[in-house]
Amino acid sequence: MYKLNDGQQIPDFGFGTYKLNGRKGVQSIVSAINNGYRMIDTAYNYENEGTVGKAIAESGINRDKLTVTSKLPGRYYAYDDAITALQESLYRSHLDYFDLYLLHWPNPKRGMYVEAWQALIDAQKFGLVKSIGVCNFLPEHLEKLQKETGILPAINQIELHPYFNQKEMRQFDKENGIVTMDWSPLGRASSVLKNETLVQLGQKYHKSVGQIILRWEYQLDTIPIPKSSSPIRQRENMNIFDFEISQSDMEKINDLTRPDGRTENQDPAVYEEF
Ligand SMILES: NC(=O)c1ccc[n+]([C@@H]2O[C@H](COP(=O)([O-])OP(=O)(O)OC[C@H]3O[C@@H](n4cnc5c(N)ncnc54)[C@H](OP(=O)(O)O)[C@@H]3O)[C@@H](O)[C@H]2O)c1
Repeated sequence: MYKLNDGQQIPDFGFGTYKLNGRKGVQSIVSAINNGYRMIDTAYNYENEGTVGKAIAESGINRDKLTVTSKLPGRYYAYDDAITALQESLYRSHLDYFDLYLLHWPNPKRGMYVEAWQALIDAQKFGLVKSIGVCNFLPEHLEKLQKETGILPAINQIELHPYFNQKEMRQFDKENGIVTMDWSPLGRASSVLKNETLVQLGQKYHKSVGQIILRWEYQLDTIPIPKSSSPIRQRENMNIFDFEISQSDMEKINDLTRPDGRTENQDPAVYEEF
């Protein structure tokens, strides 16, 4: 468990749901919960908050045993729109509150993220959400939130995998009491899963490449949220707590990072998503 800067606690491992929609999506998410995942990541823009809510209802697990995250899309960053969208997210998922609600992208050219952040600060006071955070924020965006509202996010969810290890951003988050959460922790099952160094480490530790990557992320003090539709891969991805990667092997994985290692070249300084 991680203790956040607002006193809330969240699990150190989670489940991504991008592309899990409809009946098949419900089945995959129910299976993830049955396999032991207790933190579920969705977003308004994934159009599956309903799927997540349905899976939670069918899982039979008490709501208070789960940590549920959703995200506000950039088109709703005006204050009133943000509150309304958060309420809509809750209606879609049939939940009374989210454990975490995040700004999905800073969209810096639009210049609205401070206003949206103020809405999340108030939504937390109203009880709509327990903890508030951001995704894809760079140091300059976080500094602006601090300067203009005095409140820093509890979480910064960023792209993080061996080809893009975010050393500086992780350091900045840590120094500012922000927990780093990793999206696309498996690099979206790209070529990283065939990387020779990682394949060799898998053989050495008797683990799959996915397990090596997720364990490395856990040992970096970050929270991976891998997505899988398959019950078998869901179990595989969770099975990382019975071994430890040595410091020298951690360094070998750290060395795989590349300046252009992002999976889809989405640099938050310029990339925008609404
Ligand atoms: N905040 C943001 O801007 C942002 C952006 C992107 C994603 N996210 C969140 O982060 C979550 C995770 O990221 P992601 O879905 O982009 O990518 P990911 O979790 O890195 O990779 C998912 C892909 O890997 C495959 N996979 C899963 N486990 C595997 C294993 N053990 N071996 C081989 N392949 C495996 C999955 O296929 P199967 O389903 O067939 O197993 C799927 O194609 C998302 O679902 C979403 O919740 C947030």
